[in-house]
Amino acid sequence: MTPGPVVRGPGRRSCGRRGRNHAWKGTKLSPLYALPAVGECHLWSVPVRERPHWEGLLTPIEAARAEMIPKGGQRNLFVTSRGAQRLIACRYTGRPTDLVRIDRTCDRCSADHGRPRVVGAGYDYSVAHTRHRVVIGVVTRGFVGADLETLGNLRVPGRLMGRTVTSDEAATLSQLPAHDLAEAFARLWSRKEAAVKLTGHGLAARLDRIGVQGDLAVPRGLPAEDWPSSPIHLLDVFVEGHAAAIASTHRITAVEVRSLLPT
Ligand SMILES: CC(C)(COP(=O)(O)OP(=O)(O)OC[C@H]1O[C@@H](n2cnc3c(N)ncnc32)[C@H](O)[C@@H]1OP(=O)(O)O)[C@@H](O)C(=O)NCCC(=O)NCCS
Repeated sequence: MTPGPVVRGPGRRSCGRRGRNHAWKGTKLSPLYALPAVGECHLWSVPVRERPHWEGLLTPIEAARAEMIPKGGQRNLFVTSRGAQRLIACRYTGRPTDLVRIDRTCDRCSADHGRPRVVGAGYDYSVAHTRHRVVIGVVTRGFVGADLETLGNLRVPGRLMGRTVTSDEAATLSQLPAHDLAEAFARLWSRKEAAVKLTGHGLAARLDRIGVQGDLAVPRGLPAEDWPSSPIHLLDVFVEGHAAAIASTHRITAVEVRSLLPT
């Protein structure tokens, strides 16, 4: 059994270049942050709410997309997620927002649905959201995948479960009392989705071919044609009211929860 990670935060750490704040359309940025150490994951946790002043952080394409979404929850979520990714990139790189380039090109088909990456930033990150919260995991060694699922659903459709769990996982779930089933399934799902976000396959991979009951995501057969042969480590993280997991190519031993407050 590997030891659990150290969980710290919420906290801030400056890399020593204090006072270089950038003003961007009313959003004042905090001092620069040091990147996570090797084996550490920074987990940024951002509540979803209306932030019209963040719309100025979006690229023209993102701004046009936001405009198409009626005002309300979906639009707040989109602006929160894309705005937070950019603000976090500014804090790590010291670049002004308009010089942060986020590439989403799919490695497999070159469409715009690949893993996001900040060009030339020296870190990898992964985003997950629910209606109320966006989390962004950041590492400097290897790749990361993050997922977040709301807890509280009472039922899990049997067909969904049948398509997404391995036979071992089905056996474990079948032992549980009915009232524990939905949460246990959400925890398995968040681990699987974190793994497929790390690889970039997303739901194009076969979730029922990825065993996630241990510390590693273990392929059972071939989840996708180009599934990696190197280990994918798994870690549950605490986010209130959610099942949340991080997958990483380098084992994570410390998680530091971070906040973008007061934006
Ligand atoms: C990746 C995926 C599982 C995310 O599902 P979701 O319901 O949007 O889940 P979440 O809210 O947890 O995550 C959303 C975030 O995932 C990230 N993401 C999107 N595509 C991703 C990918 N391929 N790999 C890793 N992360 C991805 C984005 O950052 C997105 O947030 P943003 O758009 O605000 O930046 C889903 O979008 C998916 O399966 N995409 C299909 C990929 C595909 O078709 N691949 C085929 C390759 S040819």
